[in-house]
Amino acid sequence: MERLLLAWFEEHGRDLPWRRTRDPYAILVSEVMLQQTQVERVVPRYLAWLERWPSVESLAAASAAEVIREWQGLGYNRRALSLHRSAHRVAAEGWPEDLTQLPGVGPYTATAIRCFAFDENVLPVDVNIERVLRRTGGSFSAASAQALMDLGATICIARIPRCDSCPLAEVCPSRGIRDEPARRQGPFEGSFRQRRATALRQIAAASLPLDELDGEVVRSLVRDGLVEVAGELVRLPGEISRAFG
Ligand code: ADE
Repeated sequence: MERLLLAWFEEHGRDLPWRRTRDPYAILVSEVMLQQTQVERVVPRYLAWLERWPSVESLAAASAAEVIREWQGLGYNRRALSLHRSAHRVAAEGWPEDLTQLPGVGPYTATAIRCFAFDENVLPVDVNIERVLRRTGGSFSAASAQALMDLGATICIARIPRCDSCPLAEVCPSRGIRDEPARRQGPFEGSFRQRRATALRQIAAASLPLDELDGEVVRSLVRDGLVEVAGELVRLPGEISRAFG
């Protein structure tokens, strides 16, 4: 099964920029961005990020406010701060043996970095890979990680799998079987997450008076370290308050 998959990948695999590097920092940036943002949206932001901060040391030297601004639009902004803190830690102490000690790095992301950067034979199982493994019942080595991701993202998709185009169809016990529809994430429109995103975008543009903002939203941003309250003003962390209005 693995040989069929790898032959398909040679021809149909996506050419993604983080597949051209083994730099653990670049892989970390890509995996943190990919945690909750789609591949097409990540590609240009990943390239811009690495151009601006090509190394752990350069990211560690940036301010939290710069990092939050560069992250704008990717969503789930806490990830920006985690990445920044990880850069501080790695710049000071090197890469830890246990990568989950880095902020924002859970077991999945740690395994992805070990696989893609450190060339260890471990398979990072994200939702796409989990679906392919479950449906095919196959066993695959780490050499198939990127191929499994692509198959899961483009062919072995959740709702209506494209079995007609699948290199594993002949040997797949689940051929033609759809998954039960999963519960979808609630709408972003009108959500607390959207109110947070909007407020953070406004504050990133210029510090704002506390009384012009939603208190509950500000409290949650403060709790996550994304903003701070300085007197009457809400601003990005560590920033000299800039004029507003
Ligand atoms: N999602 C998470 N990691 C990925 C990767 N390395 N390539 C494509 N999609 C991903």
